[in-house]
Amino acid sequence: MATLTIKNLHVELENKPILNGINLVVKPGETHVIMGPNGSGKSTLGNTLLKHPAVTITKGKITFGKLVTSEMKTDEIARAGLMIALQHPQAVSGVTVTNLLTIAARKFAENQKGFSPARFREEIKDVAKKLHMEPEFLLRSLNEGFSGGEKKKMEILQLSLLPAKCLIIDEIDSGLDIDALKLVAKQIVRLQEKGVSLVIITHYNRILRWIEADKVHILHKGKIVKSGTSALAKDIEKKGYAAYIKE
Ligand SMILES: Nc1ncnc2c1ncn2[C@@H]1O[C@H](COP(=O)(O)OP(=O)(O)OP(=O)(O)O)[C@@H](O)[C@H]1O
Ligand SMILES: [Mg+2]
Repeated sequence: MATLTIKNLHVELENKPILNGINLVVKPGETHVIMGPNGSGKSTLGNTLLKHPAVTITKGKITFGKLVTSEMKTDEIARAGLMIALQHPQAVSGVTVTNLLTIAARKFAENQKGFSPARFREEIKDVAKKLHMEPEFLLRSLNEGFSGGEKKKMEILQLSLLPAKCLIIDEIDSGLDIDALKLVAKQIVRLQEKGVSLVIITHYNRILRWIEADKVHILHKGKIVKSGTSALAKDIEKKGYAAYIKE
């Protein structure tokens, strides 16, 4: 497992400054929550960690263990175990999640000859069952025609089956009904129990009913303006952001 370190990160999107000096350290096995008003830069931070092509890092550095990931390509970063569940997952026509995951998992497997696609397919079915997903979803084109909530379940299913060390989870709770949210949260707890570190981006305190967080941070205008324990998330729900944001 590796520590994720973000140091004085400045980021621009189309020449517009979006992140203005982010510092964050996520130690192995820790869970950090990032909250903040719409447009504060939360998704941009997640996208930057995975080197989204639209993002330009103008200053600062991101490391994951000994790797300087801010200088690496997206696929190299993911292969190092830093992965993301997107706020808005894309549909991929003609590719089923079973095919996609089997190809990815085979690449990850240290002993590729020992990799059993049949056994792996059973693992996929097992996680799908835990998330109450019908088996037909595994054979449909990825996210094509999926409802908002179904897409979110699909993101967690994928990340549960790949050897992640640190996961960025961007608004997994938006669009999930309360029962689905509980199933997804429980699946995230299973990842926590495996020692995976988490950066959970959310607007709501409710997911923290099931997931224990080590730290909660408020992002505003591309800066972390306040950090605290999970009590901070409860407070935000009660008071809103105004109490923490000085214009
Ligand atoms: N390609 C782009 N060019 C210019 N500005 C952009 C681009 N993409 C995003 N932005 C702006 O960057 C800012 C941060 O967006 P981001 O998606 O990171 O916010 P967020 O905190 O995730 O918001 P939300 O809570 O609504 O998901 C917003 O003001 C957004 O309009
Ligand atoms: Mg966002």
